[in-house]
Amino acid sequence: MAEKFKIGVLTSGGDAPGMNAAIRAVVRTALTNNLEVIGIQNGYEGLLNGEYRLMGARDVGGILQRGGTILRTSRSKRFMEPDGQRDAIRKMNEAGIDALVIIGGEGSMNGAYALSKQGVKVIGAPGSIDNDIWGTNIAIGTDTAMNTIMDAVDKLRDTASSHQRAFLVETMGRNSGYLAVMAAIVCGAEVALIPEVPITAEEVALAVGEAYKRGKTHAIIINAEGSNIRTTDLAQKIDDLDVGFKTRMTILGHIQRGGSPTAYDRLLASRMGVKAVEALVEGNHGVMTGLKGKGVDFIQLVDVISNKRKVNLEYYHMAKVLAR
Ligand code: F6P
Repeated sequence: MAEKFKIGVLTSGGDAPGMNAAIRAVVRTALTNNLEVIGIQNGYEGLLNGEYRLMGARDVGGILQRGGTILRTSRSKRFMEPDGQRDAIRKMNEAGIDALVIIGGEGSMNGAYALSKQGVKVIGAPGSIDNDIWGTNIAIGTDTAMNTIMDAVDKLRDTASSHQRAFLVETMGRNSGYLAVMAAIVCGAEVALIPEVPITAEEVALAVGEAYKRGKTHAIIINAEGSNIRTTDLAQKIDDLDVGFKTRMTILGHIQRGGSPTAYDRLLASRMGVKAVEALVEGNHGVMTGLKGKGVDFIQLVDVISNKRKVNLEYYHMAKVLAR
């Protein structure tokens, strides 16, 4: 590898706790290998606009425990077009950037693949609370979001139980039910609604009514934002059907994206950041880091973007069994 090899690093799409730990790992591994690192601000939008700055070891000090991303992020429409990609490549060539580490979700990996097809040396690292990226058991940020949901539902259960209420909790996840189904297990919910398994409001109300009859003091219903029923409609329906519990609802929203990353996410992000740069040094690119079993592996970007990650419905079944 040439002496002056320069790596650019960016975060893109929805931020996820642990992205900072990944940036830190990329910068410090690059410096250890005598490479220059350029921090690209605002994701692909910044790549297009030339928002670049040289990063040193101290620039990533004190960020390991911080949520969000110090490089900031964006969802760039311009970059999704071939013209935008061409201009971005031109800008990075002007700045002498030889390779990129792109930390982000499904959409970001599509962008990474588009660049890689045009000859840019790219390594992706999956960062998304949704855990909807094919090729990795878990993405950076998912564990922290799960813990945030668990903490919120634990609190809601206290008040639900005191008032003998049903609480309807909406989780994020876009088109994936991963967060909702896992939350149902770790929070002891009566029902989980996920995009992958359509259900009627009547079926949900029936399950809640049954829980009331079995003597439960509260009921928790987790509704993934992408499910087939809107949270407000479902809350109304359960009240209309008079199932025993009165209903309240909470939309957790962007709270799930913030906060200090868990130990798990810090470790995962650090491992992936180190591996990404080491792979570039060894001449590997056009791939994404993915957790397979206990190790970090490399998955071809073309495979990442051509496959859809599915929720394991065994967990859906498990959540039902445990709701007795
Ligand atoms: O992909 C992460 C995510 O938080 C999804 O769960 C959610 O649907 C979306 O981003 C929200 O996007 P925005 O922050 O642009 O409203």
